[in-house]
Amino acid sequence: MKAKAKAPANIAFIKYWGKKDQKLRIPMNSSISMNLSAVFTITSVEFDRRLKMDKVYLNGKKALGKERERVVDHLDRVREMAGMKLFADMRSVNNFPKGSGIASSASGFAALTLAAVRAANLKLSTRQLSILARMGSGSACRSIPDGFVEWKTAKTSNASFARSLFPPDYWDICDLIVIVTRKKKKVSSTKGHAVAESSPFYKTRIRGMKEKVEAIKKALRNKDFNSLGQIIEEDAINMHAVMMTSSPPLYYWTGATMEIIQSVIRWREEGFQSYFTIDAGPNVHIICRGRDVDHLKHLLLKIHGVRDIIINRPAKGARLISSRK
Ligand code: DP6
Repeated sequence: MKAKAKAPANIAFIKYWGKKDQKLRIPMNSSISMNLSAVFTITSVEFDRRLKMDKVYLNGKKALGKERERVVDHLDRVREMAGMKLFADMRSVNNFPKGSGIASSASGFAALTLAAVRAANLKLSTRQLSILARMGSGSACRSIPDGFVEWKTAKTSNASFARSLFPPDYWDICDLIVIVTRKKKKVSSTKGHAVAESSPFYKTRIRGMKEKVEAIKKALRNKDFNSLGQIIEEDAINMHAVMMTSSPPLYYWTGATMEIIQSVIRWREEGFQSYFTIDAGPNVHIICRGRDVDHLKHLLLKIHGVRDIIINRPAKGARLISSRK
């Protein structure tokens, strides 16, 4: 029983930061995202009766400690659902740096979920896959369905899953990931979520969330690029304000991050429309219209500290690459 799956990373337009239930990963607020075409994880899982324990390889290296534990916990969820006890050989490869705020846990747990479920011969709906992926890493549930996605918060685990709002070809907008460092972040998202509530601004951000989610869905429906961008930027800054004022405070930005933020604002003043967002790391995502990619890339390459640019279009969600009995 072996299966291989591919899943994209995703960029949140409205961010998930803070949980109602840390263990089940039920988010405090609904979030909205876009799957990314150029950053993904490919994972294979084989359940094998000859194995005496799970084998976990991430990017060609044997995973140890917490990293291994998180994968084994997820395999346990699948084993429990399938009512079987076999150990697995799991191999996962990202085509981008892991742990630097490019949603490696999102693509990683989405790909692992699909591969493990198929290898265990389970047949789950997109909704069930999304719920299961969520338990591995919250943002991973958004990498299961296609294109532009909404993940709803809910009272119970079974009601908190992601669904597609629009397919990838709905709108030609792009996300340029501007890499300023490939180093692993010091504080994981999971730890960050756990301290979010200690910020005096946490409740204020959550309070305005329902309206914000409705407003961004409207901007998507109307293909209103400037409204979409303004909401994306505002929520990213609100989330980082929460991060920087939680205890302990989390400062993910570097000088280069700030330089890029200020450049995007200046270009807008000069008449060129693009908008930034930032996850739990220093790298910046810039959302632009498809036709503006070359111009934006040209502008970005002039900024000191920019090491690389990854161009993403809206993408499909997790897909099975192969499976055999
Ligand atoms: C800043 O999904 O990585 O990227 O559920 O603990 O695995 P866990 O957290 P994770 O958090 C992602 C946080 C974010 C915002 C977002 O993608 O919505």
